[in-house]
Amino acid sequence: MTVCSAPGKVYLFGEHAVVYGEPAVPTAIERRATVTAEPRDDDHVRVEATDLSLDGFTVEYTGGTGDRPDVDVPTPLVEAAMGYVDAAVRQARAAADAPAAGFDITIESEIPLGAGLGSSAAVVVAGIDAATRALGKPLDRREIADRAYRAEFEVQDGQASRADTFCSTMGGAVRVEGDDCEPMDAPNLPFVIGFDGGAGNTGELVAGVRELKSTYRFADDTVAAIGDIVRTGEGLLGEAVPEADANRELLVELGELMDFNHGLLAALGVSARSLDAMVWAAREAGAHGAKLTGAGGGGCIVALDPTGEVETALSYTQGCEDAFQASLATEGVRVEEP
Ligand code: MEV
Repeated sequence: MTVCSAPGKVYLFGEHAVVYGEPAVPTAIERRATVTAEPRDDDHVRVEATDLSLDGFTVEYTGGTGDRPDVDVPTPLVEAAMGYVDAAVRQARAAADAPAAGFDITIESEIPLGAGLGSSAAVVVAGIDAATRALGKPLDRREIADRAYRAEFEVQDGQASRADTFCSTMGGAVRVEGDDCEPMDAPNLPFVIGFDGGAGNTGELVAGVRELKSTYRFADDTVAAIGDIVRTGEGLLGEAVPEADANRELLVELGELMDFNHGLLAALGVSARSLDAMVWAAREAGAHGAKLTGAGGGGCIVALDPTGEVETALSYTQGCEDAFQASLATEGVRVEEP
């Protein structure tokens, strides 16, 4: 039996603009998905998911998600979860040259599903690592990231960027620019996350920004301005020192850039009333800065706050379903004790 875990992520800076070739900085958060893989004697795949923000479910299938089993949870959620597991298993079989390998797979996740925190990427990354290790063919991190990206690309009909899977595999902060992904140095960042319980439609939001860009010059300029913020933020992260106390000024400056980034995303039409309410509640409670994270339209905000007060304020904010602190996850995918 092999157990691997991988973290979720937030965008410190750069979502949406990254689609047009600007750099972005996603950062891994200490909220993990854990996948256990046990090889079987046959070619079946049995999946037990105890917490994917669904009621726990167990399914067994031989082929693909087309053989959807009879389980008592909403079909789209099961199919979404199963699609990712299925794609991860296919990548692991191909990487290990074991096309008929079967597995018992268990998934546990602390990352809310569909909230823009990279839950599917974390499941796919941890799943590929666990399944290939269980077959005695461990992969290096770059290959895990690449295969996880291909798995997401397949499930999301080509709508996946490399950001989530690369960040979840490597941990820490990463820089993404087109297909170029590199880990970067970053100090610990005291994130607080607010979740409105919903999710925007990424495809529609990306299409909306594209439409705006083709109609208004300001939208082009806004995307370029987000790119400038990312480059300034990268420079700041590069100046961080290991002692957390010495980085207060850095957190203030990063927070200010996060505020600018949120304003520019709002100008592109991808914020929402619930996200703006959480961003303002976080700022008023003393956050160094706050912004939406991911595609927007609903879902999550991320704030920088070392005090714990922002989490409390968010938990009392109308429209906020869940608020929690999550430090930067320095480790990406890793093996856990069974
Ligand atoms: C969605 O999490 C982030 C976007 O930039 C889309 C993408 O990069 O694929 C909006």
